[in-house]
Amino acid sequence: MLRTDTPVTVYRKDYSPPAFAFDHVDLVLELDPERTLVTSTVRFRRTAADAALVLAGEDLELVSVKLDGQAFAATAQDGTLTLAGLPGEGSLEITTACRPAANTTLSGLYVSNGNFFTQCEAEGFRRITYFLDRPDVMTTYRVTLRADRAAYPVLLSNGNLVGRRELPAGRHEAVWEDPFKKPSYLFALVAGKLECIEERVVSASGKEKLLQVWVEAQDLGKTRHAMDSLIHAIRWDERRFGLELDLDRFMIVAVGDFNMGAMENKGLNIFNTKYVLANAETATDTDFANIESVVGHEYFHNWTGNRVTCRDWFQLSLKEGLTVFRDQEFSADMMGSESGRAVKRIEDVRLLRQVQFPEDAGPMAHPVRPDSYEEINNFYTVTVYEKGAEVVRMYQTLLGRDGFRKGMDLYFRRHDGQAVACDDFRAAMADANGRDLGQFGLWYSQAGTPVVSVRSAWDAKDGSFTLTLSQHCPKVGIETRAGTPDKQPFHIPFAIGLIGADGRDLPLHLDGEAGDAPGAGDTTRVLDFTGAEQSFRFTGLPAQPGGAAPLPSLLRNFSAPVIVDADYTDAQLTFLLAHDSDPFNRWEAGQRLATRALLQLVSDAQAGRELRLAPELVAAVRTVLSDDSLNPAFREQALLLPAEAYLAERMSVADPAAIHRARQFLREGLARALQPEWLAAYEANATPGPYSPDAASAAKRALRNLALGYLADSGDAAMQALAERQYHAADNMTDRFAALSALVNSFAPGREAALADFYQRFEHDALVIDKWFSLQGMQRGEIGAHAGKRTLDTVRALMEHPAFTLRNPNRARALIFSFCSGNPAQFHAEDGAGYRFWAEQVLALDAINPQVAARLARVMDRWQKYTPVLRDGMRAALEQVSAAPSLSRDVREIVGKALAA
Ligand code: TRP
Ligand code: ZN
Repeated sequence: MLRTDTPVTVYRKDYSPPAFAFDHVDLVLELDPERTLVTSTVRFRRTAADAALVLAGEDLELVSVKLDGQAFAATAQDGTLTLAGLPGEGSLEITTACRPAANTTLSGLYVSNGNFFTQCEAEGFRRITYFLDRPDVMTTYRVTLRADRAAYPVLLSNGNLVGRRELPAGRHEAVWEDPFKKPSYLFALVAGKLECIEERVVSASGKEKLLQVWVEAQDLGKTRHAMDSLIHAIRWDERRFGLELDLDRFMIVAVGDFNMGAMENKGLNIFNTKYVLANAETATDTDFANIESVVGHEYFHNWTGNRVTCRDWFQLSLKEGLTVFRDQEFSADMMGSESGRAVKRIEDVRLLRQVQFPEDAGPMAHPVRPDSYEEINNFYTVTVYEKGAEVVRMYQTLLGRDGFRKGMDLYFRRHDGQAVACDDFRAAMADANGRDLGQFGLWYSQAGTPVVSVRSAWDAKDGSFTLTLSQHCPKVGIETRAGTPDKQPFHIPFAIGLIGADGRDLPLHLDGEAGDAPGAGDTTRVLDFTGAEQSFRFTGLPAQPGGAAPLPSLLRNFSAPVIVDADYTDAQLTFLLAHDSDPFNRWEAGQRLATRALLQLVSDAQAGRELRLAPELVAAVRTVLSDDSLNPAFREQALLLPAEAYLAERMSVADPAAIHRARQFLREGLARALQPEWLAAYEANATPGPYSPDAASAAKRALRNLALGYLADSGDAAMQALAERQYHAADNMTDRFAALSALVNSFAPGREAALADFYQRFEHDALVIDKWFSLQGMQRGEIGAHAGKRTLDTVRALMEHPAFTLRNPNRARALIFSFCSGNPAQFHAEDGAGYRFWAEQVLALDAINPQVAARLARVMDRWQKYTPVLRDGMRAALEQVSAAPSLSRDVREIVGKALAA
């Protein structure tokens, strides 16, 4: 692993095309966990005069280098192999050795539970062989795998299986050929004892395709949902984008040790088991939905990522933002109803605000297309992924679905088989629609979350309503360094509606527009908001009773990733919550009400004032809770209180203890004030019959289990007994785990017994044991009669549990990350114990797996936002990590940027 004290920054502006092209690569791997020999034979062609060929390599032992069959001198140093004096073209054969069993980084070739796997994105291929390991070098691959037949009966790689044979000494061989050119980051191999389920499907154009899901034998019974998700994804991409599967064979493989969610290697997607394995007993509704979305995501990459790939890693959002957008749309369509789509949108926006907005305001803030990085693995961020998806969504909002599709079609017509840039995608969207999207490009180059302020004026006499929007976006992160240009206004598609006093939408005509202009008379209009300040005047609006102004519904369906600063009164928010035709904004009105109430409670808590439950809020919650005409999943979303992390972000000085007190006070208050209503919702939303993860049943369980959580939090013994009954009676993980959570977080008497029972039942199921660790990492502590109990003590004790290991990323995330980032009130203990724990774990993880360590390091991003005592403790912990004798480039970049902020 590369460790360095002098961080090297890579800049987007320094891009230059490769000096060599590769026309074909032939790989032969003699698989051995201790020492795998790799022979790579590359047909190369020089494309720039006189250049030396500089290949990247990491943790490799160089065995030999040959040019056209003759030994050739090469210099290996500092992660490169330099070959000078090469002819204009030729064949270069390089043999190296690597050590898969000793590879704990899970990048390159590694062993997990006795089987071989690879992970090459972003720069893992160089840990397998010396190569031009950059995404704009695309070539065809032929891969020969040789291994012991008994230990590794299955040998998989990209593309099509073209040969198999037995070898002496109990070994065997498989040869795979991928007909498509690809960059090295999409290379993959898998070897080991695995089994699969298969399906044959016929594609839209009539070709038969073989689909396989590969897992360890004991998990075969948990693969059906992943396979169904894959088939749905294939059909969806054909219907929505006219995109077909281009290979005869498509494989998904599950692995228990994996740094991220999954990887889109051509024809051989490799997945974290968490996003493949599911059955009713072991996976929750959320797990089922996540599997569908990740399977879709990786499948969709086949076109958006693989057929058209990235020129360089600064363009990562070209494939990730677009593919997240596609998976979001896929999941929304799979919800099967308009209200289901809205729920999906709410969930996506919730994530964006809870995680991406803070990132975009902190030391790691970067544009969707970053300008520089020290370690590319640190830029697989919510900004590149989720904000990137919002940027893609804005094209669709501006151009309409048909216009967006035209842009996609042109993008593929122009760029199939190429490695391109975000600007190429934007150009395709603009050209296909005859639109100028020049200013829109600022979404790629400027970081930060724009704040839009809204003023309005109503002229009752002439029925006109004027909306004045202004935007500002202060410099963030790296932009605050001297010499960065001032920021320009964004092109914001700002969707709005106007609601009359009867709660109905009014038809909207912009001043001066023709009656038959596109959109004229619609009740939702998308405004092209491009200036620093801009007014929009709607005319011909009907008079309202008492001369009252229509109420604007702003940024419908969250049409742009901005913060809307609007001074609604509580009464107006309550009105929107009850009447807005845009379900997203109904939810939004509820969130605004709850956030306002919570921030008031926080300041009361801080000032030592008595906390008071506002009757208006209780009434608003009662209305939503009891409105059986609303989709239960929507009600669940509306009744979920804003997260502690979200509230922290909304304060100028974050105080996690006060936030937790306030939020818990409100939860318990609502639990007690509305007990009959919660109980009624609990009873009305049972799902009798065998478990099914479909959207309608999952919606009922979501609301029912939210109600159970509130009921248990009321502290009423009868309600806690209800949770205990549900825990034991459940025939599915959603209900069982929700009941367990309710017991744990309400400190119910049955809590310890249920935790022990859960462990015993699922001892042999790693993914379920992850849930068990994670619930305990996130559990509350130090409340009421349980004062003095600190979650950190429990976490430290759990680290001694035989089932705990830092080496498995899922397990480390389940306990360590869930405590450090999922339990703000406990993590931010005044004495800094949480921070010292964090520093210890970052350093311990960094010695094993820098990518995972760097993710944990990011927990401290917002250290400057906290109260002075906490801030000092966080800085001390950051300094402790920073001073460690040997740090990976990954962790060094994160702590370095945090401390420089
Ligand atoms: N390209 C993968 C995806 O989004 C992400 C990924 C998987 C990844 N494994 C990784 C990124 C390892 C960096 C390192 O689907
Ligand atoms: Zn992706």
